[in-house]
Amino acid sequence: MDPRDTLNRPLHDLRISVTDRCNFRCTYCMPKEVFGRDYEFLARQLLLTFEEITRLTRLFVGLGVRKVRLTGGEPLLRTDVEELVAMLAAIEGVDDLTLTTNGSLLERKAEALAAAGLDRVTVSLDSLNDTTFQAMNDVGYPVAKVLEAIEAASTAGLGPVKVNVVVKRGVNDHEVVAMARHFKGTPHIVRFIEYMDVGHTNGWRLDDVVPAADVIATISAAMPLEAIAPNYPGEVANRYRYADGSGEIGVIASVTRPFCGGCTRARLSAEGSLYTCLFATGGHDLRAMLRDGADDAAITAAITGVWERRRDRYSEIRSAATAGWEKVEMSYIGG
Ligand code: GTP
Ligand code: 5AD
Ligand code: SF4
Ligand code: SF4
Repeated sequence: MDPRDTLNRPLHDLRISVTDRCNFRCTYCMPKEVFGRDYEFLARQLLLTFEEITRLTRLFVGLGVRKVRLTGGEPLLRTDVEELVAMLAAIEGVDDLTLTTNGSLLERKAEALAAAGLDRVTVSLDSLNDTTFQAMNDVGYPVAKVLEAIEAASTAGLGPVKVNVVVKRGVNDHEVVAMARHFKGTPHIVRFIEYMDVGHTNGWRLDDVVPAADVIATISAAMPLEAIAPNYPGEVANRYRYADGSGEIGVIASVTRPFCGGCTRARLSAEGSLYTCLFATGGHDLRAMLRDGADDAAITAAITGVWERRRDRYSEIRSAATAGWEKVEMSYIGG
């Protein structure tokens, strides 16, 4: 039977982090002062193998999961990740297999990922201006390379590509119209994401958040927009289309318009811990069960138990009381 949590939410999506490493140091995600030269990432033997990930995914599908997303850190840093894609694509019941990437290794991997059965990719790109973008990724990575990667993905059949833009006040909020305009008239869908207080190292302040409604008002003043219905209940992004019919954008308003009520997402860390919220302080170790020889029924029962006890609705209850939580990092748990 498909489990429901304490708020009657089913389990539909599985987001799998395949590595906690990244070759970018986005200031809102992996600030250099914390993720420096001597930061200790997970050791290789602690990471779930592709076989272990595939086995768990099969069990999650048995509990109702239909959408699977690979994340990181940067998932394309995981050696031969396309082999994992092929293994997951072969599981009956996985209807949507996607991957979120910073794009740096995508041009070289796009064909292999598509051939392996990946359906779509989401690419992060915070600005079209090199000065802004390089200050945000903090490793000097150029805009042009990410744009090339988006086109390569599209050519390989991994489109329409979703382009994630994290909006931070005073950093890139003056560039949202330029970003929208660049992709207007293309099949790609830009989504503007409110800067979130994930983890506990990015120094998040509410003042740094630009409400999604302001982003929409700003873009709509230049290029009129109209709201459109979600693709499926509980969709993370609120969708808008250009009144002239030249495409679609989205906003992800996790701070000003939380969407916990429809949250059907489970997250699996690279070392095999199950998290039931992006803002969790702790997970449930599934790797130990896998490596202790637990059978499928036992693991399924453990996942079901965790899901049935789930009460998470962090974005809806964010307050002074939650401000001091030692939440896991986004680079560890995935986006
Ligand atoms: P599709 O609709 O399948 O394309 O995916 P999506 O809309 O879930 O997009 P994606 O997985 O790329 O998520 C976009 C961003 O939304 C993530 O990178 C996070 O920043 C944010 N996000 C996704 N899921 C959650 C969630 O459960 N809670 C919160 N607070 N933010 C989320
Ligand atoms: N707030 C909002 N979005 C974030 N991302 C990473 N950190 C944050 C944050 N603090 C985004 C990335 C990427 C996706 C995985 O999540 O830009 O697009
Ligand atoms: Fe890497 Fe993505 Fe985090 Fe940037 S947001 S540091 S690209 S994992
Ligand atoms: Fe789901 Fe937690 Fe995000 Fe709410 S804050 S939508 S419960 S992951």
